[in-house]
Amino acid sequence: MKAEEICQELERLRADGAPLGGLLTSAVELLHDTNVCFDWTGIYELYPDNVLRLGPFIGAATDHVFIAVGNGLCGTAVAERRNINIPDVAEVENYLACSASTRSELVILIRRRDKIFAQIDIDSQTRNAFSDGTVETVEQVAGWLAEAYQARDLACRS
Ligand code: SME
Repeated sequence: MKAEEICQELERLRADGAPLGGLLTSAVELLHDTNVCFDWTGIYELYPDNVLRLGPFIGAATDHVFIAVGNGLCGTAVAERRNINIPDVAEVENYLACSASTRSELVILIRRRDKIFAQIDIDSQTRNAFSDGTVETVEQVAGWLAEAYQARDLACRS
């Protein structure tokens, strides 16, 4: 499935009344199936205490259920407000191992301008698993989810 098709499917689920949590779960499932190199696909949500909390994921259970902003690749992406694509995790210092077999990792922020809502984190047992096209796919889905977060926040305030 391409990014556009994933977003269309998410749009359909939203129109059917799926809550944000259900949309996050579906996004993880749909994204995970796009690439055989994705061995762990999950979403961490950013809470007001500046801690990332693990949301829906596919893959092995991880000890890293809570990650403080600034810690690991996930926390660094938030602290530095940027997406992170690491071709070889053995070459980075600030890395929290989810699985000893992970070789590369991608972290894409779910954000609308200055506001970071969450992030999509993908681990691969393949070195250098994330091509520009793959990054673009994940970014498009993250963009769709950012709108869903924003819509939820606006609805809460009204
Ligand atoms: N490797 C991440 C931790 C999350 S697990 O990969 C699922 C990090 O360094 O922040």
